[in-house]
Amino acid sequence: MPLRRKASGRDGGPAGGRRPLISGNWKMNHNHFEAIQTIQKLAYALNSDDYRHVEVSVHPPFTDLRSVQTVLQADDIPIALGAQDCHPEDAGAFTGEVSAAMLAKLDVSYVIVGHSERRALFGESDEVVNAKARAVLRYGMVPIVCVGETIEQRRAGQAQDVVSGQLAGSLDGLDAGVVSKLVVAYEPVWAIGTGETATPADAQDMCAHVRAQVADGWGRAAAADLRVQYGGSVKPSNAPDLMEQPDIDGALVGGASLDATEFARIVNHRLYAA
Ligand code: 13P
Repeated sequence: MPLRRKASGRDGGPAGGRRPLISGNWKMNHNHFEAIQTIQKLAYALNSDDYRHVEVSVHPPFTDLRSVQTVLQADDIPIALGAQDCHPEDAGAFTGEVSAAMLAKLDVSYVIVGHSERRALFGESDEVVNAKARAVLRYGMVPIVCVGETIEQRRAGQAQDVVSGQLAGSLDGLDAGVVSKLVVAYEPVWAIGTGETATPADAQDMCAHVRAQVADGWGRAAAADLRVQYGGSVKPSNAPDLMEQPDIDGALVGGASLDATEFARIVNHRLYAA
């Protein structure tokens, strides 16, 4: 079946429409020395044509942010700095936590909220994710709001309902103008770090479902501007087919983003498309 080509398709520049965002979530990997090496290698592997087609963000651990920020600024590298989480409050007695205000001071542009690892391992509810997204927005940054079902939920035919519930709870009370600028990352839990990827058709179905729900709740204009990433074992080999889907506007990459060469091949996936 022929696919609708996006305005920002693989062989044209971003002639309007949604600019894909490819984000590297380093999780709890790379100390600040390794982070500096990785970002320098990544910058070397990418060129202005790549940045014209795709926006790129990297999300190192908190301890690396200042080092990566310094390299990006010193060398004028057009990669956006991202964080993996934040606390909903601006400041206070929250030992071990980092606020959105602190991230904004480091020129962070994107903050992941509600990653499935945080939901599962740290018990984050949709309410907490909503509060975190609001904190990110208060400081002029963009939240990347993660949603996704487990394998049991998918087998039970509940995948869409689970994702809808997470989305409704995480975006609850936000204005349409705000929602239009958000990034939602659909990351099926069963595809994270497992080597199993959703088929391009399944990923497309869920990303279209997310967009339809946003159209229902916040209007068609917000839905048209919203960027929806796919995440879960994205690799250079599967990136072209996933990124070609009309409702997938980029990727949230874990393991493959730790290696600059591999991540660069995902960023310039259009060069490898069949
Ligand atoms: P992997 O790419 O390692 O499957 O991780 C995906 C992810 O969780 C990104 O946030």
